[in-house]
Amino acid sequence: MKIIAIANQKGGVGKTTLTRELSACCALRGYQVLVIDADPQGNLTASWVDSSIYEATLSHVLIEPEAVQGFKREPLTLDAAVVESPVTNLDLIPADIRLARFESQPDYLTHRLRKQLYEHAMLYDLVFIDCPPQLGKLLTAALYAAQYVLVPCAADAMGLQGLSDLSFTIEQVRENVNSELTMLGAVINLYKPQRNLSAEARAAVEQAHTLVGYVFDTNLHDYSKVAEAPSQRLPVVLYAEKHRAAEQLWSLTDEILERLQMDAKHLSVVKG
Ligand SMILES: Nc1ncnc2c1ncn2[C@@H]1O[C@H](COP(=O)(O)OP(=O)(O)OP(=O)(O)O)[C@@H](O)[C@H]1O
Ligand SMILES: [Mg+2]
Repeated sequence: MKIIAIANQKGGVGKTTLTRELSACCALRGYQVLVIDADPQGNLTASWVDSSIYEATLSHVLIEPEAVQGFKREPLTLDAAVVESPVTNLDLIPADIRLARFESQPDYLTHRLRKQLYEHAMLYDLVFIDCPPQLGKLLTAALYAAQYVLVPCAADAMGLQGLSDLSFTIEQVRENVNSELTMLGAVINLYKPQRNLSAEARAAVEQAHTLVGYVFDTNLHDYSKVAEAPSQRLPVVLYAEKHRAAEQLWSLTDEILERLQMDAKHLSVVKG
C-alpha cells in the first residue's frame, strides 16, 4: 500500500482534479485504489457520487460522536465509510461540510487517519488523499498518514505563492511525526502553452528549493474537457479519451507510477 497526499494550501491549483484523475488512471491501469476526500468542500466526492448513496463520511471516521448519557462513543472504522466509485477498482471515502469540525478536535485525532489506513486499507495498492486548501489539522492528518506528497502548482504568476509555507509544514511533519514522508513531485497544472507566463511559472517552480529535480516532465494544460468530466461522473481519460488532456494524464500517471516503482499494469474497463 502506497499512500499519497495531494497537497498545496493555495486554492484552485488542481488538487482535487489531479487526485480524481490520477487515482482513476491508476485504477484503470488495474491497481486497487482508494481515494479519500479530506476536504470539507467535498468536491471530489460530488465528482463521483450522489450524496444519497452514502451515509458515513470521513468525519464519521475521524471525529468522536457526542457521548450518550456519559458514555464515550467510538468513531466508525475506515472500512465502514468506503463506497464504490463509477470506475472499476476505485473506491472512495466521501466527505462533506461536517468534516470542517475536525479542525477544532483534539490533537490526538490527527493520528487516527494513519492508524485506520494501516488497519483497514492494506488491501489497496494505492491510496490518494485530496487535501483542503489550508495548513490545518486535516492537512497534518493527511501528511502524517502519507508516505508521499504530490504538489500541484498552477502555471500562473501566483504559482509559487505559499509553496515555502507548504515546504515548512512538510518539514515539520517530517521532523516531528512522520520521518518517512517523501516528496513525490510537483505537477504543473493549468498550463497555457501560448503564454510566456506559463513557461516562466514552470521555471520558477523548478527552482523552488524543495522541488529542484522533482517537477514532473508532463504539464497538464488548461483544457475545458478537464473541467467538464466531473459533471459527467467520468474520468477525463474516458470522457475525452482521444483528447490531448487524456494523453497528458496517462503520461503523468506513467511518470508517477515509475517514481513509485510500481510495475505497469494493463488497462481494464469501466463499469457499465
Ligand atoms: N487542467 C485543467 N484544465 C481545465 N480546468 C482545470 C484544470 N485543472 C483544474 N481545473 C479547474 O479549476 C478549478 C479548480 O480545480 P480544483 O478544484 O481541482 O483545485 P483545488 O486545488 O482542489 O481547489 P481547492 O483549493 O478549492 O480545493 C476547477 O473548476 C477545475 O475543474
Ligand atoms: Mg480541492
